[in-house]
Amino acid sequence: MAKALGAAIRPEWELDPDFLTLNHGSYGATPRVVLAEQDRWRKRMESQPTRFFFLELPGALREAAGRLAGFLGATAEDIAFVPNATTGCNAVLRSLRLQAGDEVVHVSHVYNAVRNTIVHLAEQAGARVVVANIPFPRPDATTILTNIERAITKRTRIAVIDHITSPSGLVLPIADIIRICRAAGVAVLVDGAHGAGQVPLDLPALDPDWYVGTCHKWLSAPKGCGFLYARADRRAALHPVTISHGYGQGFTAEFDWTGTIDPSAYLALPAAIDFFERLGGEALMARNKALVAEAAALLATRLGTEIGAMPDMIGSMASVRLPLRLDANRSEAVRVRQALQAVNMDSPVHPLAGEMWLRLSAYAYNEIGDYERLAELLPGVLSGLKELTG
Ligand SMILES: Cc1ncc(COP(=O)(O)O)c(C=O)c1O
Repeated sequence: MAKALGAAIRPEWELDPDFLTLNHGSYGATPRVVLAEQDRWRKRMESQPTRFFFLELPGALREAAGRLAGFLGATAEDIAFVPNATTGCNAVLRSLRLQAGDEVVHVSHVYNAVRNTIVHLAEQAGARVVVANIPFPRPDATTILTNIERAITKRTRIAVIDHITSPSGLVLPIADIIRICRAAGVAVLVDGAHGAGQVPLDLPALDPDWYVGTCHKWLSAPKGCGFLYARADRRAALHPVTISHGYGQGFTAEFDWTGTIDPSAYLALPAAIDFFERLGGEALMARNKALVAEAAALLATRLGTEIGAMPDMIGSMASVRLPLRLDANRSEAVRVRQALQAVNMDSPVHPLAGEMWLRLSAYAYNEIGDYERLAELLPGVLSGLKELTG
């Protein structure tokens, strides 16, 4: 039976009751029951570290990978843990060994840390970075596909495509993107930092060359829990950023040990997936999508602005344009965000297409009243900013 959601289940998290949390997308939030499971693993680890690391961890890690794999339609051998999406993308991109004259394609709404990785490795190799533009607001799938197709040349080694874009919250038509890249003979790394828990996933059916994801965002795992899926033919040449004892012993062996770390976030993941499924699983994703769409419509109406995405590209995040005549740049966006935090709420603010956009998230503990409160507070915050601007 579906559980009551919204404020009724907020006490399941440690969330500050005096703060309006509308930004699940950036760092997630881990429920108490999952933190308790993580604590149990830590106690087990510290009660006999040698036994734990030497005898227990290898099997426990593979068991947790198997549970995640089941959730993603895959098997345990397809999946390795990484601490976060940035590290997973680094592993794939560094393993590629770009050569002078190679080209790397990414979309214009790429996550900045991943863009920096691409730029750094391209500079080292003498490779070229090519950007496929995503028109904004309300892009359509055909234009996105055409722009990616146009960005591909005979020299393209890899296309790095966000499944759900960070600044704008767009769910890109990833199956079609993978299909056109494959047809052009181009490998695809999907940056799915926002995928698992926002949209249903069947990775073998999607069939990317690599898919990197996080579990600490939309699956509510403890922080530092990400994954890397690699198609079978991509595993031999794929290595973690840190080479350690497993070198040369295969994909999962190399990634399962990259030096001593606290692996409790990975080991608590099955409890997080159980929690997510108790809240509804796919029904929860559908509910979050409906909630954020309703919230975005409410905000856009109250502010007299617009929503950044058509309904078919909305997951659990949505962008709404802010009625501000500020220069749409990063430092002004930080200033707007600080003004939101000063009245005890937070949502990322991004400059896109010459305007400022607020990215809303909806998770199990949110309800429409949260966004009504935001709509009440926002005009005062924004008019304060205009006064500051002069
Ligand atoms: C599209 C995208 N890629 C990568 C990341 C980085 O995730 P992490 O901090 O887990 O490395 C994020 C974080 O928000 C993201 O939105």
